[in-house]
Amino acid sequence: MEKTFLMLKPDAVQRGIIGDIVSRFEKKGFKLVALKLIQVDKTLAEEHYKEHKGKGFFGPTVEYIISSPIVAMVWEGKNVVSLAREMMGATNPANAAPGSIRGSYAVDISRNIIHGSDSVESAEREIALYFKPEEILVYDKAGETWLSE
Ligand code: TYD
Ligand code: MG
Repeated sequence: MEKTFLMLKPDAVQRGIIGDIVSRFEKKGFKLVALKLIQVDKTLAEEHYKEHKGKGFFGPTVEYIISSPIVAMVWEGKNVVSLAREMMGATNPANAAPGSIRGSYAVDISRNIIHGSDSVESAEREIALYFKPEEILVYDKAGETWLSE
């Protein structure tokens, strides 16, 4: 089954909305297969965002991600990569659809609450950065047969 990596950034943790955001993915029907609260170090943050190295926002983004704990998660489900991105809303909360996560909780691109992998390949890379293989759990979730055939 498809997996994605989601991170609740320091602003989400500090603002006390971890539960609200996790709840959205649970209610959608996705399966949580890994979750941890961690302090990211600079090396990991720079590796995570390396595609943006050289851009003006790279340094500030790394500093923001390492400024306070984050929640790292792996979610599983049909089309979870693209559907989670839809649920998150546009990168810039100013353009994020009302009702999306960024549209509901954020106002500025530099404090946009959540990260989600942008492709299946990115998801594999990012999951491996944050989790050991044995931390990704395999289990049956009640109600799975009511989500799709
Ligand atoms: P990006 O990968 O383009 O967005 P997304 O998180 O939606 O995949 O950018 C990574 C993060 O960098 C983004 O979530 C917030 C930050 N950022 C800025 O602060 N300013 C910017 O102009 C851009 C493009 C991103
Ligand atoms: Mg991105």
